[in-house]
Amino acid sequence: MFIDSDHPLLVHGSSDMGFNPYEIRRDFPILEREVNGRRLVYLDNAATTQKPRQVIEAIREYYEKYNANVHRGFHTLSQEASEAYEKAHETIAKFINAYSWEEIVFTFNSTEALNLIAYAWGFKNLREGDEIILTVMEHHSNMLPWRNIARLKNAKIKYVDITDDGLLRYDQLEEMVSEKTRIIAVTMMSNVLGTVNDIKRIAKIAHSVDAIIVVDGAQGVPHLPVNVRDLDIDFLAFSGHKMLGPTGIGVLWGKRDRLDEMMPFKVGGDTIKDVTLDDVVWQDLPWRFEAGTPNIAGGIGLAVAAEYLMRLGMDNVRQHEIELTSYTLKRIREELSSDVEYYGPWDARIKGGVIAFNIRDLHHHTVGKALDMLGIAVRTGKHCAHPLHYRLGINGTVRASYYIYNTREEVDALVEALKTIIGLKETLKTTEEPDVCPGG
Ligand SMILES: Cc1ncc(COP(=O)(O)O)c(C=O)c1O
Repeated sequence: MFIDSDHPLLVHGSSDMGFNPYEIRRDFPILEREVNGRRLVYLDNAATTQKPRQVIEAIREYYEKYNANVHRGFHTLSQEASEAYEKAHETIAKFINAYSWEEIVFTFNSTEALNLIAYAWGFKNLREGDEIILTVMEHHSNMLPWRNIARLKNAKIKYVDITDDGLLRYDQLEEMVSEKTRIIAVTMMSNVLGTVNDIKRIAKIAHSVDAIIVVDGAQGVPHLPVNVRDLDIDFLAFSGHKMLGPTGIGVLWGKRDRLDEMMPFKVGGDTIKDVTLDDVVWQDLPWRFEAGTPNIAGGIGLAVAAEYLMRLGMDNVRQHEIELTSYTLKRIREELSSDVEYYGPWDARIKGGVIAFNIRDLHHHTVGKALDMLGIAVRTGKHCAHPLHYRLGINGTVRASYYIYNTREEVDALVEALKTIIGLKETLKTTEEPDVCPGG
């Protein structure tokens, strides 16, 4: 599908990039690695991204110079650690243009953030008969928490379908909402189709019936300029490790009023101002939702990752991925279409840098293993989006996904490797291999 230049989903980036992927690569030591005798081509960024020296160094510096617990001590190390950890919340607030750093809750990852919203907001606010609207393109992390809370509260789940082009059925969503709708939970970008959803439009639909909108930003936030005020959403979840940060740190952003409507869910140390045997006074935001000793090094590392991305400019990040994706789709369409089945929108301007496909008559795992033999890392399987694969009538896909350090030459390497694999199809054909559900 091709679209008009005033299409609401279009993200315009500068073509004059103050941004050079070849220079950026120098900050990523792992990209020097060889795999199976070839220079690594890392195309599994939707699962996790590589880390620049700056992030690795910030974590090392914390452990070497000011490792201490936060919020607890008057000693110098504890004050330095607390200051850096709190400042990390401010940096993340700036990254997504939150109203205040107090709306930033650090979690373990997107999955934990989404569970937290489902249980903490959902448990307090859902009633029997209420409806939660999800989409068939959701990752399990933005599907299963809602199904669990719906079961606990006797609420109902409804799913919005996709078009044949892999776009969300906005017409169906508009018909589906009613005064019973309490929550619309939707991904900003599909981790399989790459589809970028029109979050502003969905927020308006949600608010027209006084429902809240929860956005799974695990794929969107690392790749698109995100401004929560402009989007006018209620909650956003994302993961540090998918945006150059370390694993074990994620973010839950919520509008202050919404966070105030949540009951403290995980409770214990750091969540309280005072406790007696019969009563408890909860801490201010965001601490009442960050129970126990947090991932201090992770928070500090994530802030450095966000600063790195802000220096590059998220418009430039987006533009770079549009260019790589559009080049890949052109080569697939022109050179591989008789052997390759591609899933998702064909217009790179309305999708992220995620290319899901199959080679006809070859199992996706076989293709993934063959690409690895050629030094190219991709993901294969159902990418924790089983219902979407069943909706597409397939058992899995090969997924190549891009980030700031990927180059046109790496796209060429992928396309040439696919040609080699297609040439060896008869030799490579195997019986069905077992499916696994790796992350991402
Ligand atoms: C769209 C989407 N949502 C949620 C997640 C879960 O992220 P995490 O495993 O970091 O919690 C992923 C991970 O790949 C994802 O792609």
